[in-house]
Amino acid sequence: DKIIAIVPAAGIGSRMGSELPKQYLLLDDQCILAHTLDRLLGHPQISQVIVALHPADEHFAALAQASHPKILTVTGGGERADSVLAALNRADEHAWALVHDAARPCLAADDIDRLLAARSEFPQGAILAMPVRDTMKRADPKGRIQTTVSRERLWHALTPQMFPVASLRSHLAAALSAGALITDEASAMEWAGEAPGLVVGRADNIKVTHPDDLRLARLFLTRANS
Ligand code: C5P
Repeated sequence: DKIIAIVPAAGIGSRMGSELPKQYLLLDDQCILAHTLDRLLGHPQISQVIVALHPADEHFAALAQASHPKILTVTGGGERADSVLAALNRADEHAWALVHDAARPCLAADDIDRLLAARSEFPQGAILAMPVRDTMKRADPKGRIQTTVSRERLWHALTPQMFPVASLRSHLAAALSAGALITDEASAMEWAGEAPGLVVGRADNIKVTHPDDLRLARLFLTRANS
């Protein structure tokens, strides 16, 4: 099979509270997005990496990875799902797409390997995920515990999320135009009645969301490179 990666990187990252979009924050020697792209570009089975960028992006062209022969850039849309759809519109419809958050720079090769190996078990597609370990509480509007939610069969959805390009493209487009709540690629597939598989991923595949996460990401990257 032909395998491509899609990286939605068109967000402005307002939650980090910085001027710079979070994917461009420095993590040791290069920015978060550059680390993420290295993980995908370095995998022998991934033949193309499509990056969705903000129309006013001023930073991507300066990255060392920008001129890599496997890289293709597209202009993203208003929401993450629009950005992913823009990338899918430029992808080979017979390929499999691994959609991966720009803000997950610690992705390990063995996580990609295990996800790719799940194509035979889950021909509808699958995502990396982690079983919930903590006791889960639902809060009331005052920030007090309303109830305990059973963690049985509850998972954290991670990325990459892997689907056949043609089915993800059609389901994502249909879900978007129906106004469905789409927070990841799997939710578009679920909306269409598919049941994507869950593949246990590594705990160090964190999403850099808050400034403190940068320190953890730095630690995981150092370990991976040593
Ligand atoms: O802001 P949030 O963490 O939900 O963004 C998740 C990912 O989706 C980020 O990598 C961000 O750059 C990307 N995104 C995008 N297009 C948008 C909004 C977010 O590619 N319009």
